[in-house]
Amino acid sequence: MCGIVGYIGQRDTVPILINGLKRLEYRGYDSAGIAILNGEISIVRRLGKLKGLEDALLDGALPGLVGIGHTRWATHGRPSEENAHPHTDCSGDLAIVHNGIIENFLALREGLQSRGHIFKSETDTEVISHLIEEKYDGNLLEAVRAAIQEVKGSFAIAVISRHEPDRIIAARKDSPLVLGLGNGENFIASDIPAILGCTRSVILLDNDELAEVTCDGVRILTIDDLVVEREVFNVHWDDEAAEKCGYEDFMLKEIYEQPVAIRETIRSRFQDGKVVLENSSHLTDDIVKAVGKIFIVACGTSYHAGLVGKSVIENWARIPVEIDIASEFRYRNPVIDKNTLVVAISQSGETADTLASLREARARGAKVMAVSNVVGSSITREADGTIYTHAGPEIGVAATKTLVSQMAAIYTLALYLAQVRDTMPQAEIDVLASELKDLPKKVSGLLVDIATIEECAREFSDCKSFLFLGRGIGVPVAMEGALKLKEISYIHAEGYAAGEMKHGPIALLERSVPVVVVATKGHTYEKVISNIQEVKARDSYVIAVATEGDEEIKQHADYVFYVPETSEFLSAIPAVIPLQLLAYCIAKIRGCNVDQPRNLAKSVTVE
Ligand code: G6P
Repeated sequence: MCGIVGYIGQRDTVPILINGLKRLEYRGYDSAGIAILNGEISIVRRLGKLKGLEDALLDGALPGLVGIGHTRWATHGRPSEENAHPHTDCSGDLAIVHNGIIENFLALREGLQSRGHIFKSETDTEVISHLIEEKYDGNLLEAVRAAIQEVKGSFAIAVISRHEPDRIIAARKDSPLVLGLGNGENFIASDIPAILGCTRSVILLDNDELAEVTCDGVRILTIDDLVVEREVFNVHWDDEAAEKCGYEDFMLKEIYEQPVAIRETIRSRFQDGKVVLENSSHLTDDIVKAVGKIFIVACGTSYHAGLVGKSVIENWARIPVEIDIASEFRYRNPVIDKNTLVVAISQSGETADTLASLREARARGAKVMAVSNVVGSSITREADGTIYTHAGPEIGVAATKTLVSQMAAIYTLALYLAQVRDTMPQAEIDVLASELKDLPKKVSGLLVDIATIEECAREFSDCKSFLFLGRGIGVPVAMEGALKLKEISYIHAEGYAAGEMKHGPIALLERSVPVVVVATKGHTYEKVISNIQEVKARDSYVIAVATEGDEEIKQHADYVFYVPETSEFLSAIPAVIPLQLLAYCIAKIRGCNVDQPRNLAKSVTVE
């Protein structure tokens, strides 16, 4: 949801800002802009992808040692050059970039207009620049502090002023912001990958904090003007992890990184028969034994990992699990007490609805466990404990490797709960642990030859609608298959429990609507085959995901994507891989931008 970046130092600022924005484009890409301070403030903005801004900047030198940049995902005001950030005040003496939503912007804007301020955009952001202008009395930090106290909503901002060219002022509330430390230069960004090419020393700014960033250092203060000493955190990621490394797209690279993502996520979590969860000191054995109910909350693809979690926690640990889409959970007054455990799944750790659900749950006395891929993200900082997925940075907007590592983390959590509550014989836990460890190899095997998937994609890439069906653990797989297809190829697709088909979706079936069926071996396999017959009787094509060795399925399906056998509940991981690839291949044939699908953003930090 918008990316921001800032630089102050001795180097030419434009390339640093552009490189940073390239790494943040996943957060939004409908327009982009930069402001450079060099006596005056020069602003260049362009509608559309970052490339347009980059090309515009090639035309003329824009020297300067201080600057801020932005890549936008529109909330208030359509995508246009006028609404692109940075925004200025009436005088043009200051410039601001913002990620978030100012909820009281209309009231603030009316007040500012009545006091003579002239607005040049339709954005909520512009009110902050005029507020700062109004409060400015020779001290930018104080003006920003006063301005943000009038603002309701979420924000991460970076502000520069012609009157104080030796600093950038940053502030945040409910939108992420990191500070990067260099030698005689310092950085601001929405996310760590944006500055990874320049520094590995990072400070995470907390809610209601401001930072004064100069060439020589950063000073962090609370909104109440208390000085904050914050630990510098060293990033170990390989910079290459955020590059395409010869792959055509990030999404394809990330699909191929899935074996490593799973391996890294389960590594050292199974030791001598024990399931080990780090960062879970709040989950003492007594607390785990007393848990009466678990809620899983998540959005998008993470919600599908949550559905897998519901199945395995209930089956293995015998704890009742409710699963909610976070935007529903936060407003539905759920029944929670101190024996409730809430598991908040979010790869980014910044999704606004998931964060709000976590706060709601904690306020009602529940313990909250986060599952996240981003160390130090808001959700991990506010949860009682975190199971980190170790998928490495995911740049493609449509989640792939973070999903399989979330599933691996959730399997681990379910086994941990089962072990502590003694709901499963140790021998069964050992078998599942060993099958889990085998998954990276099995997934690697699936990525070697994708010719059948490519052929199938060619045959059906013109279809207007797809149905995805599954039963049991196959339901979240079907839902994820449908989500991937619609996200990146813009084909309508629905994921359904196969048994529900006859209560509605069957009315959609005709030759031009292919049906993808997750038909891996399991206790409902025969039922799935019956559903396939019902589909065939309506003349639709059937594309089946089936277990290696299942020859019978060929009689029923037009295409079969085979996946290696594993335990039924673990089969969600191998089964989802061909569906990611099918969506990818169809989207490529249709000429879609798979890394940056229209209207989407990777990190949804607004409601
Ligand atoms: C966005 C992304 C999805 C992601 C969802 C939840 O919609 O495009 O890929 O699944 O947010 O994100 P989270 O970071 O909370 O997992």
